[in-house]
Amino acid sequence: MTRPSDNLSEAVQAGNNPGADHLDVVIAGHVDDGKSSVIGRILADTGALPEGKLAEVRARCARNARPFEYAFLLDALKDEQSQGITIDTARCFFKTARRHYVINDAPGHIEFLRNMVTGAARAEAALLVIDASEGVRENSRRHGYLLSLLGLRQVAVIVNKMDLVAYDEAVYDRIRTEYLAFMRHVGVEPAAFIPVSAREGDNLSTRSERTPWYTGPTVIGQLDRFEKPADDSNKPFRMPVQDIYRFTEANDDRRIVAGTIETGTVRVGDAVRFLPSGKGARIRSIEGFHVDQPQSAAVGEAPGFTLDPQIYIRRGELMVREDEPAPWTGTRFRATIFWMGAAPLVPGRRYPMKIGAARVPVEVAEILHVLDASEMTSVAGKQQVDRHDVAECVFETARPVACDIATEFPRTARFVLIDDYEIAGCGVVMEAGESGYAVLKERVTQREFNWEAGEVSAEHRREEYGHDGKFVVFVAPDAGRDPAGAERAKAWARHLEQRLFDGHYHTYGLSMNNLFNDLETPGEIMSREEHLLQLGQIARLMTDAGLLFITTLPGADDADLAKLRVLNQPYELFVVAVGDHELVEAQPEVLLDAGTADDEAVQRVVDALTQRAVIPDYSI
Ligand code: GTP
Ligand code: MG
Repeated sequence: MTRPSDNLSEAVQAGNNPGADHLDVVIAGHVDDGKSSVIGRILADTGALPEGKLAEVRARCARNARPFEYAFLLDALKDEQSQGITIDTARCFFKTARRHYVINDAPGHIEFLRNMVTGAARAEAALLVIDASEGVRENSRRHGYLLSLLGLRQVAVIVNKMDLVAYDEAVYDRIRTEYLAFMRHVGVEPAAFIPVSAREGDNLSTRSERTPWYTGPTVIGQLDRFEKPADDSNKPFRMPVQDIYRFTEANDDRRIVAGTIETGTVRVGDAVRFLPSGKGARIRSIEGFHVDQPQSAAVGEAPGFTLDPQIYIRRGELMVREDEPAPWTGTRFRATIFWMGAAPLVPGRRYPMKIGAARVPVEVAEILHVLDASEMTSVAGKQQVDRHDVAECVFETARPVACDIATEFPRTARFVLIDDYEIAGCGVVMEAGESGYAVLKERVTQREFNWEAGEVSAEHRREEYGHDGKFVVFVAPDAGRDPAGAERAKAWARHLEQRLFDGHYHTYGLSMNNLFNDLETPGEIMSREEHLLQLGQIARLMTDAGLLFITTLPGADDADLAKLRVLNQPYELFVVAVGDHELVEAQPEVLLDAGTADDEAVQRVVDALTQRAVIPDYSI
C-alpha cells in the first residue's frame, strides 16, 4: 500500500534521512475496529491518493453493487503496488502541512506484533482504534499493553464508528474512562481520545459538527502534535552486525561489516568494540551504498564498515563505540515477555531467541509471575506462560548476548522468541543478571552430586599412570577465516598425542569430526551448542579416567571455553591458543605463533604441562 512512485520515493527519502521531519506511526486495535478505514480516510483527506483512485474504487464498488469502503483503498493500492517494486506492503505514506508520515497497517495480531518487535515498524507514535459500538475489547488491551512493553509512549486512541452510536458522548466517555484506566495501569498516558467515524469522515482531518461536545484535536491534528522522540542519534551507537561482506576485486581481502544503525552516530577513526566477543578495532572507512565514502553514519542508515586492524567478526555481534556507555553482555537476565505461541512457554525447554542480529538458544530459568495481558490480572503460582499471557521471567542463554536494558535504551533491549518456526513471544530485557551459566552450573552440580565413583580413585590413577588427567584444548582460528591455521592446530594436537603416547602417557586425541554427526537424525550437523555440551561431558569422563585428553576447537571464543570449564568440573582445562585465535579475555596456558615449527610447538606444550606438574618433571 503505497503512493505513486514520485511521492513514494520522496517519503522514503525522508524516512532514510534522519534529519527530515517525518514520523513513523503504527495503527493497532481489535479485528474489524476500523484500522484500514481510518487509514484510507486519512489518505483520501490528505490528498495522498493517486489521481482518480478514489473515483475508480467508488465506481468499482458501484459496478459490483457493493457499498464503498475506505478500507478498499488500501487493497487497491496494494494490488497496484504488487506490480511494481514493493518496499513493505503494510506501509502507507501521507503528508500534512507539518511533516511526512509513514503509517503501518499490519493486518492481524501476529503481524502487528512482528512488525513492532522486529523493528519493521520503527514506530514513534501509535493510533489505537476502538469500535465505539463494541467498546474496549481484548486486543484493544493487548495491543495497548504491547505498545507500553515496547516503550512506545506517544499514543492516541481513536474511538471509531461513532456514527453507529449516534455520536453519543456517554458512550465515548465510558470507553475513555475504562481504557484510560487500563493504559495508566500499564504506564502509558494517551495523548488524546478522539471520537471518529471513519465512514463519515468525522474528526479525522476536520472537526465534526456532530460531536460539539468534543473539544480535543482531530486525528491529523493530534498526529501533528506528536513530537519526534528525543533524537536517537544522540543515544550511544548500536549496530547489530547483519553480515560480513568481502570486497570482490582481486587481491583485496578487506571485509565489510554491515548492519542497520539502531541508535547513535559513528565517524571514521572511532574506536569500536564488538560484543559479546569483546574484539576492538577502529573504523577505517565507511562504505555507503549511494554515497562515496561518507565520514560518518547515523541512526537509520545501513552502512558497511572496514576496520583497522582487520578483526574477525561474526554475524550477530553488537557493534558499539568504545567511548560510550557499554551495553550489557551476559547469559542471564530478567525480562518481561508477551507470549502468543500455540504451546505454552515452559521452563527447561530451549527456544531460539533473536536479539539484535543474534540468534541464541535460550531457556526460562524461572517464572517470576504471570499476568493475563487483556486483564492485567496476576495469575498466582503459574509455572507456564500461556498464549496471551504476560510474564516476568529469568532467562538463560546458551551463550552470551549483548543488549541494553529497557529502561535505558529500549530499542536494543527487545528480543523475540521462536517456537515451532514462528515468532511466539516478544520481550524486553529489564535487568541484567549475573553472568556465567547458572542453570548449567546447577545441572553440573547435580551431576557431580549424583556421581557414582568407582573403587579406583583419581589419586590411584595418578599414582599408577604417573600423571594427572587433563583436558587439553587447542584453540584454533576459525576454520572459515583461516583454514590453514585451523589445520595447523589440529596437526599439532595430533603430534602432541603421539609424543605423549610415545612417552608412555595415557592419552587420547578426539577429532571434532567424530562428534559432528547426529546419530538420531543422520546427516544433520549438530549445533555448536550441542556440540560443546557433548564435548564437555566427554571431557569430564576422559579426564576422570586419568587421560590426557586432547582436542582442537577451531573458532572457539571465551564463552565456549567458559562453558567447557563448567562442564569439565571438577577437572580443569589446559588451553593452547594457536595463531590468530578468537580469544579475548581467556588466559591460555600456552600461546603458539602461527609460524612456530612443528617440533617446537609440541615441545612448548610439553614444557608447559611439565611446568604445571600435569606430567612429571623428567623429560619424555
Ligand atoms: P482488520 O484489518 O480485519 O483487523 O479490520 P480493520 O480494523 O482494518 O477494519 P476495517 O477498516 O476493515 O473495517 C471493518 C468494518 O468496519 C468494515 O465493514 C467497515 O466498513 C466498518 N467500519 C469502519 N469504520 C467505520 C465507521 O466509522 N462507521 C461504521 N459504521 N463502520 C465502519
Ligand atoms: Mg485492516
